[in-house]
Amino acid sequence: MVAGAMYADYRKVKARDVTPLPEGASAAQGASMFVNPLTALGFVETARLEGHNAIIHIAGASNLGQMVQKICLIDGIPLVNIVRSQAQVDLLRSIGARNVLNSEEEHFHERLVSAVEETGAIIAFDPIGGGSMGSDVLHAMEEAAVRRMPTYSRYGSDTFKQLYIYGTLDFGPTILNRRPIGYQWSVSGWLLTPFLKRVGPEVEQRLRKRVIKELTTTFASKYTRVIGLAEALQPDVLRAYERKATGEKFLIDPTRG
Ligand SMILES: NC(=O)c1ccc[n+]([C@@H]2O[C@H](COP(=O)([O-])OP(=O)(O)OC[C@H]3O[C@@H](n4cnc5c(N)ncnc54)[C@H](OP(=O)(O)O)[C@@H]3O)[C@@H](O)[C@H]2O)c1
Repeated sequence: MVAGAMYADYRKVKARDVTPLPEGASAAQGASMFVNPLTALGFVETARLEGHNAIIHIAGASNLGQMVQKICLIDGIPLVNIVRSQAQVDLLRSIGARNVLNSEEEHFHERLVSAVEETGAIIAFDPIGGGSMGSDVLHAMEEAAVRRMPTYSRYGSDTFKQLYIYGTLDFGPTILNRRPIGYQWSVSGWLLTPFLKRVGPEVEQRLRKRVIKELTTTFASKYTRVIGLAEALQPDVLRAYERKATGEKFLIDPTRG
């Protein structure tokens, strides 16, 4: 169930906010069946609603990113993943990713422009927030668009580019370098709850049904460690999960105290 204030012995919630666990699914699997799966589906739904056929995902090797990749493969949506290490490139390739770019490698920008040209992706989802990666992605989209223009315009291309910031992995200010991105762009926040309100209960039910159907495949999460609530406050444990490192998910089991 999703209702907030869930670490309680008893909790009264509306029936519509409850989903029965599918046969054979564990409570631990149920613990990860809402936020990241619905967010991953939400990105694809948002892209479709806004008329896009391809997506760019920044920090694509995250738990959420792997789900986005699996959905895009099933749904036939070209996806460009941006990651920051070779290990993350390998991880995404191992689940079938076709476009994975390592931002730490030489010629990253040129490769990103090529990936935009190949896929036509002009919508991006960014969980980093701080720094200039989102801006760099808009720049690559604009560069690909400008290359297609028959004549020069000082205002840039007329291709509308959308960047959604949905996380704060970097707490620094968001740097937007406006000069190379023209005037046809938008940078917005993206959050699951307002998205679900925007699309309404029918779409939400459809997405939830898909999560249940693919709970042990597309939306499976691996936990590296199970901790209790009190343990979650121990500084060394806190520092470990606060790193938000690739593949290191902590499951809180309140029955451990
Ligand atoms: N807006 C919403 O509704 C919504 C919903 C769900 C999740 N989220 C957000 O989505 C993000 C991802 O969630 P998750 O559960 O999938 O995370 P996760 O599995 O913990 O993965 C985090 C990923 O981000 C990378 N990363 C961390 N700091 C980074 C930085 N400064 N620059 C670039 N990459 C960085 C990590 O790579 P390294 O191993 O290299 O550090 C890792 O691959 C979180 O910020 C979360 O809060 C938002």
